[in-house]
Amino acid sequence: MKKLVALIALAVLSSSMLNAQTPAKLTKIYPELETKLIEWRRYLHANPELSFAEMNTGKLIADSLKSFGLSVKYPVAKTGVIAILKGGKPGPVIGIRADIDALPVTERAPISFASKVTADYAGQKVGVMHACGHDAHTAILLATAYALKQVQSQLPGTVVFFFQPAEEGNPNGGPGGAETMLKENVMDDPKIDKMYALHMSAAQPVGTIGYAQGAAMASADMFKIVVKGKGSHGSMPWGGVDPIMVSAQIIQNLQTIVSRQSNLTKAPLVISVGSLHSGVRSNIIPETAEIVGSLRALDEQMRLDAHASMRKMAKAIAESAGATATVEINTSTLVTVNDVDLCKKAAPALARAAGADNVKIIPWITGSEDFSYFGQKAPAMLFMLGGLPKGKKPEEAAPHHTPDFYLDESGFIVGVRAFVELVFNQ
Ligand code: NI
Repeated sequence: MKKLVALIALAVLSSSMLNAQTPAKLTKIYPELETKLIEWRRYLHANPELSFAEMNTGKLIADSLKSFGLSVKYPVAKTGVIAILKGGKPGPVIGIRADIDALPVTERAPISFASKVTADYAGQKVGVMHACGHDAHTAILLATAYALKQVQSQLPGTVVFFFQPAEEGNPNGGPGGAETMLKENVMDDPKIDKMYALHMSAAQPVGTIGYAQGAAMASADMFKIVVKGKGSHGSMPWGGVDPIMVSAQIIQNLQTIVSRQSNLTKAPLVISVGSLHSGVRSNIIPETAEIVGSLRALDEQMRLDAHASMRKMAKAIAESAGATATVEINTSTLVTVNDVDLCKKAAPALARAAGADNVKIIPWITGSEDFSYFGQKAPAMLFMLGGLPKGKKPEEAAPHHTPDFYLDESGFIVGVRAFVELVFNQ
């Protein structure tokens, strides 16, 4: 009997550990915190920095986290920051990630805190803008760190905050921010049990949450095909091997990898050629042509099969014309997979944060995220948070990465609530 009572007590204890009550104190601080969050976001928005050049952003984040009383590692992966908050109660180690970099886009949005910053990018002077919402991600995670610090003694487990640079890729080629962070073994000490992140969506209603279960966002591979033929006079093409003609055949046939070779009922696949360069004038058949493009997949095997097909196809088409083709494929992100069990456990917490009617399962997205690298090391989940103003239609929203990109700030606090609820309800 004693044993049974002890067992029941243990069961009650462990279930309350798994489902700790979110402290009421937090509800009281949210209004004030929201004001701070929006201030931070506006400052970051007006002062954006490009990938791996987030010097001031990184320092600002590190200083803020220190002022909250968190233990901070800085710099990590050149310009990134990690903070650790050990709770007063037992529980898992939870990682939450925000990306902090901006893009080479000149802002056009009519807002008082619009960016006027310029920088050098690939030898060109460009405008710099938070045109993907990473300023919001950063401010939301700072606010989450602040909120959780206020209830540290009640916090179950440990929370590790990852402020990641260069999500938009390494401007000099090579590994981007997530890969660089992971090379520094950032998920090993303490060992992360599960990872969360959010991404703003300009076309999703403000304050709503959407997430896909399983494959959520696509892998991104950049490919370069160099066709080498033989130059000749444009009036006598039979004297040469025309690399432009061969390129045209390759480009057309690449689409048959999608339409004829891939089982699209399993997952989507996208191949886009974004650049074709060859030749200088009308009557010279050039020696070479260069095709550059991007491949997006939502299934790892389909991705690898598409790689093999591209190599085989380019080589065979070139050979049939007496040319050669070399194919180079560089991976910038993997498929972002939302762990299905983690999503199921997260659902009630997200519903508490946003309201049950405001949380939806959404289809996969062919855009990509380097959060996928964190997902290789622990079960992970990335959800989308809406920033589309009330009364606007999704198709009216300026796309991410464009000069008119705009986010409604009134939903940002839902991001904080969501992370808090996820931490308190494991
Ligand atoms: Ni982004």
